[in-house]
Amino acid sequence: MKALILGGGAREHAIAWVLSRSKVFDEIHAAPGNGGIAEVAHLHEINPTKGEDVVALAKKISADLTVVGPEAPLMTGVPDALRCEGIPVFGPGIDGARLEGSKAFAKSFMLDVGIPTPSFHICRTVAEAKEALSLRHPPFVVKADGLAAGKGAFVVEELAEAMRLCHSLLEEGMLGEAGRTVIIEDYIAGRELTAMLLIDGKNTGLLPLSQDHKRALDGDKGPNTGGMGAYVPVPWASKALVGRIEEISSATACALKAKNIDYRGVIYIGLMVDRDERPWVLEYNARFGDPEAQVVLPICDVDWGEVMLSVAKSEPLSAIRAKGCAVGVVMASGGYPGHYDVGFEISGLEEARKTEGVLIFHAGTKRDGEKLITSGGRVLTVVGLDPSLEEARTKAYRGASAISFEGAHYRRDIAWQALSPKTPRKGGDAR
Ligand code: GLY
Repeated sequence: MKALILGGGAREHAIAWVLSRSKVFDEIHAAPGNGGIAEVAHLHEINPTKGEDVVALAKKISADLTVVGPEAPLMTGVPDALRCEGIPVFGPGIDGARLEGSKAFAKSFMLDVGIPTPSFHICRTVAEAKEALSLRHPPFVVKADGLAAGKGAFVVEELAEAMRLCHSLLEEGMLGEAGRTVIIEDYIAGRELTAMLLIDGKNTGLLPLSQDHKRALDGDKGPNTGGMGAYVPVPWASKALVGRIEEISSATACALKAKNIDYRGVIYIGLMVDRDERPWVLEYNARFGDPEAQVVLPICDVDWGEVMLSVAKSEPLSAIRAKGCAVGVVMASGGYPGHYDVGFEISGLEEARKTEGVLIFHAGTKRDGEKLITSGGRVLTVVGLDPSLEEARTKAYRGASAISFEGAHYRRDIAWQALSPKTPRKGGDAR
């Protein structure tokens, strides 16, 4: 059978890698892919957000399954276009993708079905925003309703700054249409946690919990990024907490069914765990997390080809068991998440791979003749796998230190909350 993966980041490389090890698929294709995905898949230069082009490609290669990696093809309805042609897809239709595409929709959904989420107001005018802010204490949380490439959530200390932001978003179009509605919500201090739930209309499967590191610098400092590293499992998540997250997952699945949303794919549940160990849902995404996928997928002791095909066809899921631990370190271009240059040669990959248990997933890389060069902000995720979390981290950093490109930077403290929880930090504001 043949699988087609849409997207070209490290998450999609991890998907391609697990599918290349599946008994189910003997051919993997990706559009557009990247320099690393090319090692396990045939690449196609099409725009993955254009339904007609994806359908034409899926038909041409006789794809038995299409897996949607990033959110953009979900928002343009690519899964709906494929399903119309009878092609199984791992990824929700446009109705389910609204959980990620509109924060106002997601928050109203949560409120409707009793999912714990910070109290909020949906504001369409500056006057409404002023009123909503006046009911709260600092820090203030302001979020753009629509997708803003990770740049739509703000946590600010000063009321005047929050008002300025609302004005820029609502009246000046700072983030275009994405910010013409804003959500103002209560601030919750705590620890971030990621739950990813496979869901296919009838069956669900909760994947091992993981933790992302969204700030650019050690100690959770610096600007927000797409994610600088992740680890799994999360030893500080108690049984009681896991139980509460299972309840949230079941409630989410039941609510989708009740609202006649035939969701087939994965729901990313972004949580904040407060000091009383209560989980609050900050956001849903309609896809695997990046970099969470790079650590979670490899440690699940399943045939991901079987699992993704079952989800796409709404057939019973086999139990998902985790085996071992994983730590992923994102190597980024100098300057990321701000301005960065590309085109620098990447060396040391072979050396890094010599450490047993090291996987390297490419994001912003491309081939330039014999050379591999940087082509994006997040360049690689280097993953260490081991039965012990500590060793997994050692392996990930051994791998990362063997790799070099001009300006490369990465955090040195991934998994600190699990392995050195006393490291000082400003608690829980990395949204
Ligand atoms: N790791 C955050 C995200 O994928 O949205």
